[in-house]
Amino acid sequence: MKTKIADLEFEPLLSAEAIEERIKAIGIQISNDYKHVVPVFIGVLNGSFLFIADLIKQIEIPCEITFTKLASYYGGTKSTLKIRDDIDFAMDIKGRDVVVIEDIVDTGNTAHYLLEKLRIKQPASIKLCSLLLKPKALLKKIDELKYVGFEIENEFVVGYGLDYKEMGRNLKDIYKRVK
Ligand code: IMP
Repeated sequence: MKTKIADLEFEPLLSAEAIEERIKAIGIQISNDYKHVVPVFIGVLNGSFLFIADLIKQIEIPCEITFTKLASYYGGTKSTLKIRDDIDFAMDIKGRDVVVIEDIVDTGNTAHYLLEKLRIKQPASIKLCSLLLKPKALLKKIDELKYVGFEIENEFVVGYGLDYKEMGRNLKDIYKRVK
């Protein structure tokens, strides 16, 4: 069913059930990959708040979690390529195995910025986990990108934490823009 958010129209792309199933599989994979260490998850707010919450419940090994807040879209449907650092985290990650949790990798600009900042803190390893990836929009290769929920076309999406003009984050499914 189509839905309208502000001035744009959207149609369903990924159902809540499909998202839930994929997150379970990623949870099993991460729990297995990190079973000999205690990983630190760094959730990137705002867009990934539901993904972080659902993914962390599927992790079956001891782990820690902290958050950072970055913004790059400023309410539009195109990346501005400018990043605003809203909240930093205080946890010492030196020598730790870090998994960054993102909602979506679009141009990859935000991920690049954050990964560079994290490398300076000398963690033992860094991997990136993103619910969505737009491979055709990616401007730079991201070697750390290990876990991807779904690859999608270069289209604007909302729902399940992702917003348009700060709205639509509450939708259970993910929708793509139709006009
Ligand atoms: P990037 O820096 O271009 O990779 O964009 C990353 C950020 O832009 C994401 O964390 C989202 O907050 C936002 N973003 C990218 N694509 C979309 C979209 O289709 N819908 C909503 N937000 C998006």
